[in-house]
Amino acid sequence: MSNGLDDVIAAETVLSDVNGLEGRLTIRGHSVAELAGRTRFEDLVALLFDGFFENAPDAAAVAKGLAQARAEIFQRLVAAGLDAEGSIYDAMRAGTARIADGDDLATAYRLLAAPAVLTPALIRVKRGLEPVAPLPGLGHAADIIRMLQGAEKADLAAALDTYLVTVSDHGLNASTFATRVVASTRAGLMSAVLAGLGALKGPLHGGAPGPVIEMLDAIGEVAQARPWLSGAVKRGDRLMGFGHRIYKVRDPRADALKAAVRKLAAKGTGDGRIAFAEAVEQAALDVLRTEKPGRSLDTNVEFYTALLLEALGFPPEAFTCVFAMGRTAGWIAHAREQLASGRLIRPQSVYVGPKPELAA
Ligand code: ACO
Repeated sequence: MSNGLDDVIAAETVLSDVNGLEGRLTIRGHSVAELAGRTRFEDLVALLFDGFFENAPDAAAVAKGLAQARAEIFQRLVAAGLDAEGSIYDAMRAGTARIADGDDLATAYRLLAAPAVLTPALIRVKRGLEPVAPLPGLGHAADIIRMLQGAEKADLAAALDTYLVTVSDHGLNASTFATRVVASTRAGLMSAVLAGLGALKGPLHGGAPGPVIEMLDAIGEVAQARPWLSGAVKRGDRLMGFGHRIYKVRDPRADALKAAVRKLAAKGTGDGRIAFAEAVEQAALDVLRTEKPGRSLDTNVEFYTALLLEALGFPPEAFTCVFAMGRTAGWIAHAREQLASGRLIRPQSVYVGPKPELAA
């Protein structure tokens, strides 16, 4: 039995490969370093969807489909009155659940557009501001930044593109597996994506970057980093943004995002924060080497995610929603791949409970 399914191979995929020993992520034949910072989200969606829908869309068709879906979602779910009760993540997920289900490209675009439109609108409403409608003609990332900030900001849009591409797919992680399980029952794309959204929320998966900011704020200054981090690990706490089930070396996505953060800092956005964060990262790696020898704990994607999304103006409570904006592309492709395999996912368990009384 594999508790946590660590060694179980549950699918064949052409979508992505995570090499945890060498720290390599390949998405449809391209390394993440090759894609991040050079590819727009629309290109990546076209790459992931290729072969999984009739009439495989190119990047221009994806851009058009996403723009239409953003306008439609805004009209249906935001302009008609937004339900901003509860956490931003829960409200975003509830809004996404209101999309009509289907297995076609139009449904896929709506599922990609839902977190992209709902998240900035929810953030603005919670700040007492009016939501900003999407603008046809803008790229997906540029429109998200405009809907959040109320103005076009090319540097921030480029950094968001890097982020969305970097997190778009990552092997059989917990949320992608959840998506494939639901897709295998033929429940439809929306149900499959909702399963992914449910799994992504937890702090051991997509919920980690918000707590990274809390950790940085609690540390406060470089001199406090070592004692704070060492105290936390000695208490048995986990340092958010470090460690990974598959990567036994540095997560390659951490470097892709760190480069994007540095690029923004060079242009004056978040420049004070990056030097502090780099010092905290070094202190954390030292502390983990000392306190957890032999565990191969290194920086994961969430550490620099936190810094990047903070610099883009997202509040920590919305970080996981932004993760969902990117990962939905991978979920949809995996759901389609699983459906095409025709196989229901149905593992077994070992019963360790009491046996029934035998009739005398
Ligand atoms: N800080 C301190 N200790 C850690 C950390 C950490 N971040 N991660 C693992 N450890 C320790 C564990 O306490 C354990 O120590 P022990 O052997 O003394 O009991 C040992 O390392 C092995 O831990 P496991 O639980 O077996 O590792 P697992 O593969 O289950 O954990 C996980 C992976 C959940 C990501 C873990 O490293 C963690 O909790 N990290 C912090 C949360 C985080 O950053 N999550 C985002 C992951 S990336 C993503 O999902 C997008």
